[in-house]
Amino acid sequence: MNCTPMTNESLYRYASQVLPGGVSAAARAGKAVGGPFYMARGEGSRLHDIEGHEYIDLHTSHGAALLGHGHPQIKEAIAKSLEMGMLCAYETEAHGAVAKRLVDLLPGADMIRFTATGTETTYYAVKLAREFTGRHKVLKFEGHFHGFNDYLQFNFWPTAENRYPKVSQETPGAPPGTEKHVIVLPFNDLDLLEDTLRQQGDEIAAVILEPINYNSGGIRPLPGFLEALRRLTSEKNIILIFDEILSGFRTGPGCLQEYLGVTPDLFCIGKALGGGMPISAFGGKKEIMEHVAPLGKVMHSGTYNAPLPCILAVNTFLEVITEPAFYDNLLKHCDLLYGGMGEIIQRLGIKCWIQATGARFNMLFGLEKEPINYAESSRRDVATTVRFFDSARKHGIFFFDGWHHGISAAHTQDDIQKALEGIEAAMGEIA
Ligand SMILES: Cc1ncc(COP(=O)(O)O)c(C=O)c1O
Repeated sequence: MNCTPMTNESLYRYASQVLPGGVSAAARAGKAVGGPFYMARGEGSRLHDIEGHEYIDLHTSHGAALLGHGHPQIKEAIAKSLEMGMLCAYETEAHGAVAKRLVDLLPGADMIRFTATGTETTYYAVKLAREFTGRHKVLKFEGHFHGFNDYLQFNFWPTAENRYPKVSQETPGAPPGTEKHVIVLPFNDLDLLEDTLRQQGDEIAAVILEPINYNSGGIRPLPGFLEALRRLTSEKNIILIFDEILSGFRTGPGCLQEYLGVTPDLFCIGKALGGGMPISAFGGKKEIMEHVAPLGKVMHSGTYNAPLPCILAVNTFLEVITEPAFYDNLLKHCDLLYGGMGEIIQRLGIKCWIQATGARFNMLFGLEKEPINYAESSRRDVATTVRFFDSARKHGIFFFDGWHHGISAAHTQDDIQKALEGIEAAMGEIA
């Protein structure tokens, strides 16, 4: 490959000839900031780009790098799998053991199935709910992201004219009529939810949601909303699915289902789970999970289901996060960061609401209070947000051009201090 000189710009031009948009995932194109960033390597809390710049990473791989980049124990787990021939498409002793660890940690887990991506995981969870209930419709909330499968890719981040009550596809390509199987509601509107379930409950297979909507501003359920949702779905025999692909392991090893004290029927986890390796899972109550083949009729099979390097990485991830001081340290550093940002914002007189739960946070420029739904959070000032990210990167702090950010367990107190200095400098520039 000859692409000298290796600048971001030259690599972008080179890659654009063979990768649509120069990237392998659309989100990496960084449209708002003028193009993708090409990295040379990651190490712990740091990223190094191909032009030799070093950044403190506050993106952490869309949240996948909760342990930081290249965690030594994850590397050892992968090395072990190499010794075992990188087995793929075989079950090993480790598969059941890792599933058992998850069953022990997650309140909603009687059984687990491993998958690769989040998009695929929510697809299977919905499919399973349909077969179990014999119903077709799925209710989701506006602003909640569940990956780009045809069943669920509606009203993630609609423009004002496409918002609720419209049901709007996020991307073309699904067969016409797919939208008839989806009901979209604004989050946190209990009256509307009750009305909808009263009128259409008998047709609804599942309600799926991000228990905390990190993908559109870190929006938390209003007091009582989740409990009411749990009660109403149980009354109507509707499967309640927590999509914890992103929220999983941000607050503790029991995920949000433990943190919020509400147990779903099915859940999806991913991202952080693999310590940087591509693995996700769905799980839930035994009587539902028993409908997965070969016990039941819902086929779930695949060559790359749970390859050994990923399974051993999950095993190690779970070992690391259940070490006694893991969450104390991580959450202490989170508090340091969020407190420091709040202090900077106040001192510089910048309108920016920091919405944070556990190891993930949102910066909502232009907002002065916690949003309760996407209609409110989407009023954030995107132009200022992008200017801030751009400026922060010039000060050595890597923010991804998106909604949510976070630190990893590899971020030290010194990293947080440096991050705050960069954030302050960037805030000063945009003030
Ligand atoms: C809540 C949620 N569900 C599903 C997905 C899709 O996951 P993946 O990117 O692994 O397909 C994401 C990804 O950001 C997510 O945040």
